[in-house]
Amino acid sequence: MSETLSLRRPDDWHLHLRDGAALSAVLPHTAQRFARAIVMPNLAPPVTTVAAAKAYRDRILAALPTGLDFQPLMTLYLTDSTPPEEIDRAVESGVVFGAKLYPAGATTNSQSGVTDIRRIDAVLERMAERGLTLQVHGEVTRPEIDVFDREAVFLDTVLAPTVERFPALRVILEHVTTRAGADFVRTARNGVAATITPQHLMMNRNALFQGGLRPHHYCLPVLKTEADRQALIDVVAAGNPRFFLGTDSAPHARHTKEHACGCAGIYSAHAGIELYADVFEQHGFLDRLEEFASGFGADFYGLPRNTARITLRREPWTPPPSYAFGEHELIPYLAGQPINWRLAA
Ligand code: NCD
Ligand code: ZN
Repeated sequence: MSETLSLRRPDDWHLHLRDGAALSAVLPHTAQRFARAIVMPNLAPPVTTVAAAKAYRDRILAALPTGLDFQPLMTLYLTDSTPPEEIDRAVESGVVFGAKLYPAGATTNSQSGVTDIRRIDAVLERMAERGLTLQVHGEVTRPEIDVFDREAVFLDTVLAPTVERFPALRVILEHVTTRAGADFVRTARNGVAATITPQHLMMNRNALFQGGLRPHHYCLPVLKTEADRQALIDVVAAGNPRFFLGTDSAPHARHTKEHACGCAGIYSAHAGIELYADVFEQHGFLDRLEEFASGFGADFYGLPRNTARITLRREPWTPPPSYAFGEHELIPYLAGQPINWRLAA
């Protein structure tokens, strides 16, 4: 067993950085590990224009500790009233690399999202023409649909028809969680991909109820069955280039998760590459890590792969019980539990 692992420096293709004091608290974790990240636009208010994306990018760069080399890749938050010209501005900006579809009401700060995908046909048409990637939160929100079926129903009723109606549109099913989602992306036309989080590779939905209610295992899309988890493991084990790293690290203050109506989101940026190394090794395909973390995503976005490298050491460590999060606390994923791989300084 090798004691060190050298990797091309990875990128995080789905990340929540928040703003203000929260941004300053979490950004170093990502920037120590990852060269670039697609930064989600679900702030309050959301990042709906290129001007807002540029201003947010400036705040991220201002919060970056000196000595860390990190590039935020911005995305626009689509609404029912996004004008197609905003897509032109995005492509021409040089700093916006996609636009995110949040079905209205699907997740944190999605109230201003899209109420019916047909309302943004002109925007999707323009994105297909200009080659801007659509990043999709793939869940329906209708209250009669079981929460565990929301991804599968979205694939059938929204994503499949959209992929067909816009044959040139580049689409990423963000944080895929189900066998249905993995099968959809595996067999879709070219130009369709998915990101996978560490938690959906490591846990099934039992983890939500392990000895009691576990708010720090609650994220959206919610954890699924063991068969779903296994399907995600299988596509990664196969080295399928359509599936790549996106942590979906989503920090929320402790008191907002340990609450009668707790927020969705798991914070994983503190171990954003190490968690994947652990689960890949546990399943016997550590050799798949580099392409998943540092190759396939850049290729999909048409960006150069990084040239710098990082080193992981086999040296068990334990994330602390909490991190400072502005004036609050942040509970990291696997707080107090051992992680086998550690980032070398
Ligand atoms: C994300 C957040 O908190 O912004 N939460 C989550 O559970 N993943 C939003 C999202 O990506 O759905
Ligand atoms: Zn997310």
